[in-house]
Amino acid sequence: MSWPTVRNVQKLILLTIQVVSSFVPRPTARSRLQWTTRATASCRLLSSTEGPNRDDLPTPIYHHIDLYNENSYTDDVETVLGRVDGFMRLLEQQEAWPLLHESKIRDRIHSQHTRDCEAASLNLAPESPVLRDQQCSTRYEWIFSGTKSYPLAAQSLEPILNTTAISTIREAAEAHWENPAFCTSRFTYQRPGNYEAHVTDLGERVRSIVNETLTTRIYPLIRDVFWNDPTCSLAPVDQLCVYDALYIRYNSTQAKLLDHIGAGQPLHRDLGLISINIRLNNDFEGGGTFFENQLLDRKESDLEPGITPLTPLERGHVLLHKSSERHAGASTVDGVRDILVFFVSGVSCETGSGSGSTVPMPIQSAIAKQSRGYCDDCYSNNPLRAIFCRIAHQRYAVRVAPSDGEAWQYLGTAFMEYDTYLAVMKASAGLRGAVLQTATRCLQLATRLTPCDSRVWNNLALTLNRQWKLKSDASLLNTTEMAFATAHQLLKMSREKCDVEGELDNVNVNYGLFLSNQDRFMEAGCILEGTALKKIIDQDCGKAVEDAYELWKFCRQQQ
Ligand SMILES: *[C@@H]1O[C@H](CO)[C@@H](O)[C@H](O)[C@H]1NC(C)=O
Ligand SMILES: *[C@@H]1O[C@H](CO)[C@@H](O)[C@H](O)[C@H]1NC(C)=O
Ligand SMILES: *[C@@H]1O[C@H](CO)[C@@H](O)[C@H](O)[C@H]1NC(C)=O
Ligand SMILES: *[C@@H]1O[C@H](CO)[C@@H](O)[C@H](O)[C@H]1NC(C)=O
Repeated sequence: MSWPTVRNVQKLILLTIQVVSSFVPRPTARSRLQWTTRATASCRLLSSTEGPNRDDLPTPIYHHIDLYNENSYTDDVETVLGRVDGFMRLLEQQEAWPLLHESKIRDRIHSQHTRDCEAASLNLAPESPVLRDQQCSTRYEWIFSGTKSYPLAAQSLEPILNTTAISTIREAAEAHWENPAFCTSRFTYQRPGNYEAHVTDLGERVRSIVNETLTTRIYPLIRDVFWNDPTCSLAPVDQLCVYDALYIRYNSTQAKLLDHIGAGQPLHRDLGLISINIRLNNDFEGGGTFFENQLLDRKESDLEPGITPLTPLERGHVLLHKSSERHAGASTVDGVRDILVFFVSGVSCETGSGSGSTVPMPIQSAIAKQSRGYCDDCYSNNPLRAIFCRIAHQRYAVRVAPSDGEAWQYLGTAFMEYDTYLAVMKASAGLRGAVLQTATRCLQLATRLTPCDSRVWNNLALTLNRQWKLKSDASLLNTTEMAFATAHQLLKMSREKCDVEGELDNVNVNYGLFLSNQDRFMEAGCILEGTALKKIIDQDCGKAVEDAYELWKFCRQQQ
């Protein structure tokens, strides 16, 4: 099956961060600030409620997501898209390239989606048109987040799998893993302690239980939660189908043997429309799904009593959320946690003919966003054209899903890459300024739509900082610092619940470099310390930690 795997999304995420955080350790040599106290004693800046800059910290998390209908927002969208189109026309004229028609992008998305759905429907039952309007008998409730009551996920109030069915499925998974051919984890993230099996590999009995559960329970419940309930209604879809179904085991014992605090999964989005997970056991500690938007309206000082990741209420119960909701598998710290996960997609399961309009918008957007591999392959000998191809895809994603913050973010980072290219080509400051301004506007829209995504704030800070280097406007320094501080703060809050170390290390290096370039060595040292000290524990620790360590040492010497 050629559906882009979750791993590709992850790659994209990492690239987005890495591409925009190229680090050159070149702090200024002068030293104004004294390194008066030992780092550990002074490193309370952002982690305590009484740090000196506490009141200046931004509160992006007070933004709310449902701005989509606001006039000002709509105006912003039109203005920014107008600029984007302007650049695309300019590039087309200057370079005499043929237009990259939206219809071409749409056709590719459509054929990919059709292929994937067809492949999936061979194994697991799609929604039956006959049963489509049947009454759903499963009771459920929504779970909300933040003061604006953002609908995060829904949970069933009764089981959708009985104990007999659960035992059959668990035994089939055990038997599957007994087979030496499958004993290595095929889990998409290859995380320590995680085992995975495709439901379709678990035998006829399991497939028949799953087919029955999908048809009589899951599809009707999804219809009720996402289409018949005004809380979070999605655009209509004719037929639902499952494009992948996994049995996942988080084994904390195994994860601990490999020096991890538990078995989990990093922050990511799923492809598809709706993701659901069914709980198969109760005897574990920790675990659950941590949603980035659980941080809405939160401050670090609110952490008591803390955020609780969500799990289905009981064995056989189910948790449902939009696939675009960014989430992580919180660490299972004791015992083994077993779940069934279904990635549900929609409509064009019947063979597509012509128009791409049968692919639900969120799925079109998700596929369009994964343009990096495609564009780099197509234009491997022309970097500017590859960037242009990405801009065209990200613009398409924004057009079909204008309230998707990640689509705006990726459009912004595509413009950042355009600026990187222009810097290498020694383009005029005027052109670079205009490109960076466009990137900033995209990223600012993204901060309003996905205010808890730390990547957006990090990328925004990097863009603003580049603008400052072109044009030393002091207010840019202030907003840059706020954006870095926000990214840092969000990750520190997420860190309680899931593994965001890599993202935090990247942000710390960027933020520390920014501070040290202003000769604020003590503050830089504080930000860098957590990351830098990882080098002492682990010599072979990757570029971000190496960079943090070198810069941290430099900052300490400036006393
Ligand atoms: C499950 O449904 C699919 C698609 O309808 C079908 O091809 C398959 O034979 C079913 N499997 C079982 C075991 O019922
Ligand atoms: C348990 O669920 C399976 C699959 O849905 C069903 O076939 C079976 O009749 C159920 N058993 C009981 C005792 O309800
Ligand atoms: C979990 O992992 C440990 C260590 O590898 C292993 O001994 C144990 O059998 C596993 N438990 C399950 C239920 O798979
Ligand atoms: C930047 O913020 C500081 C306080 O944090 C303030 O004193 C200063 O005036 C601000 N500068 C600009 C240009 O806004």
